[in-house]
Amino acid sequence: MTETVHLIAPRSSYDVIAEQYAELFRAELDDAPLDRALLSGFAEMVRRDHPDPQLLEVGSGPGSVAAHLHQLGLTVRGIDLSPAMVELARREHPEVSFDVGEMGALDVADASVAGVVAWYSLIHVPVPQRPRVISEFYRVLRPGGYALLAFQIGDDTLHLDEAFGHEVSLDFHRLQPDAVVALLDDTGFELTVRLVKAPESTSAAAKVPQGFLIARKSW
Ligand SMILES: C[S@@+](CC[C@H](N)C(=O)[O-])C[C@H]1O[C@@H](n2cnc3c(N)ncnc32)[C@H](O)[C@@H]1O
Repeated sequence: MTETVHLIAPRSSYDVIAEQYAELFRAELDDAPLDRALLSGFAEMVRRDHPDPQLLEVGSGPGSVAAHLHQLGLTVRGIDLSPAMVELARREHPEVSFDVGEMGALDVADASVAGVVAWYSLIHVPVPQRPRVISEFYRVLRPGGYALLAFQIGDDTLHLDEAFGHEVSLDFHRLQPDAVVALLDDTGFELTVRLVKAPESTSAAAKVPQGFLIARKSW
């Protein structure tokens, strides 16, 4: 029951706001030098350690992060719960492949990808489902593969029942880096990078601290 609700609400909500969300966030990376540096470093680590690196971006939304990773020399597949987001991402970034899917049950073979990126998408996964999602990342990664997680830091859950003038039901769970690191550790990951970015008064999207973690599946 809970399982179903935690997928139905974000899927239908992102379906109705896909176009406006993309409009607002399309160019976000252009003005985010630290985020771009982190994505570049991550891409370089993945390329250095894995020939022909295949990468998954889970919760790829409008596809701009996946497209950025593609430009950094990785073969990227974006996966998103929302069919409208996937359609939009395919239209805007035909060079990247996008599919509808769920990060807790990935239609991806074991040990088949060199990297998994969850860029502000783990924030929609409620606490009880998180271990399963992190285990999925571990399952699909090759030995030595990397996971990159980006999220807002906090203890609360922001609930929106309206966005861009549409009725939605969206929960944004803030996460504590310690709790995510513990989850990664329990799953068997080795932590590689832990970064906390202070809130930015100039950015509406970054009013709370942002956490970035890179973890590796052992060889
Ligand atoms: C805040 S947006 C981030 C989009 C993109 N990563 C970016 O940074 O522009 C979160 C995305 O995660 C997707 N999502 C939420 N829960 C998901 C799940 N369980 N599996 C796959 N995608 C999910 C939503 O449909 C939405 O497109």
